[in-house]
Amino acid sequence: MASTNVAEIIARKRDGGALGPAEIAAFVRGASDGSWADFQLTAMLMAIYLRGLDAAETRELTLAMMRSGVVLDLGAIPGRKVDKHSTGGVGDKISLHLAPMVAACGVVVPMISGRGLGHTGGTLDKLESIPGFNVALPLDRFRAQLAGIGFGMIGQTDDLAPADRRLYALRDVSATVASVPLICASILSKKLAEGIDALVLDVKFGEGAFMPDLARARDLAQLMVSVGNESGVATRALLTRMDEPIGRAVGNALELAESIDCLQGRGPADTMELTYALGAQMLVLAGRCATEAAAREELRRGVQSGAAWRKFLELVRAQGGAEGTVLHPEKLLQAPGQELIKSTKAGFVTAVHSRRIAAVAHALGAGRTRAGEAINPAVGISHLVKVGERVEAGGVLCRVHAATSAEAAAASQQLDTAFELGSQRTTPALLVAEMIA
Ligand code: URA
Repeated sequence: MASTNVAEIIARKRDGGALGPAEIAAFVRGASDGSWADFQLTAMLMAIYLRGLDAAETRELTLAMMRSGVVLDLGAIPGRKVDKHSTGGVGDKISLHLAPMVAACGVVVPMISGRGLGHTGGTLDKLESIPGFNVALPLDRFRAQLAGIGFGMIGQTDDLAPADRRLYALRDVSATVASVPLICASILSKKLAEGIDALVLDVKFGEGAFMPDLARARDLAQLMVSVGNESGVATRALLTRMDEPIGRAVGNALELAESIDCLQGRGPADTMELTYALGAQMLVLAGRCATEAAAREELRRGVQSGAAWRKFLELVRAQGGAEGTVLHPEKLLQAPGQELIKSTKAGFVTAVHSRRIAAVAHALGAGRTRAGEAINPAVGISHLVKVGERVEAGGVLCRVHAATSAEAAAASQQLDTAFELGSQRTTPALLVAEMIA
């Protein structure tokens, strides 16, 4: 029988039992109305971390967390609403250009994103490198913008899945983040609250991902796909490699500039490969295209015709960003300390270690150590070589952008071990490893 006693509910999971809907509802209510103390919530999180949740419990937890706040109703806006979510990587700027590319094909994209987490960057921080860009639109303005220009890009508001905010903060300080059912419930509760019809997940594995191991990333993808579909949102996941950084730039304004290149048809090959793979799934799930091939073609046409770029300019104007800076992104890239990192020998690039690159970008001021800390949008690393490319002795491996020349010099020392060169050309593996539908 379901218990209403907090300690008994925790004990049931501690001992490996399954929680019923009423017990899960009590836990989530306890997180959102304050009736469970932090130590009780944390004990439960650790019990879940150690004992796991089955698929039915995970679905129940996800839906209870979603219902802890506002669930957007976008029914008055015609067409299927589709979003994409990445589990986080290094140089992952895909959302910035993917959302306008998909919106330019006539699909509504209500994108609610996050800030940098750990070694990974966040879409909101990258957007905020555009002076004036407002990621904190109230939900009624967001809804009006979706009806007007077909897409919007904002951050999580206080009233969206508030139980996740408290639980996430506790997980962060209690070694309970890396739990497949907790990650699933955390991500999906926020995404399902957006009022979307379909969702494409980019679940990353490899050195620069939260989940280095393919098997665990696959478990997470399968769970999120089944919970999403059972909750009435058509959900697919791509399992994608996150070893070398995505593209050639890491850092907020540097990544924005690279996304602008993507929208103008000059994006790096790996970045565009991933963009088309994710975007094609979005268009198919939206019912806009019958096949992946047709969807890729439509996305490509949107870039070539300039429609995707014009959509992005509409977004910048609608959310108060300074249009002049996206027309001339070089204005955002004026970090005073710049240094080229050169190779001491010739060879083929066999590895670019994304964790090391991320750590250096973070130390330069591109990421936060504590929540709420200011970041420097102009710093980071650009012109990164890619695996498989040939470099001559004295050739450029990357460019450091720092607040001072002393910081640029320190960063260049730390980048020593980020690149590996060999005598044989290695062909980089395709970024998309599997699709889970
Ligand atoms: N992102 C989230 O929003 N939640 C998690 O648990 C992990 C990544």
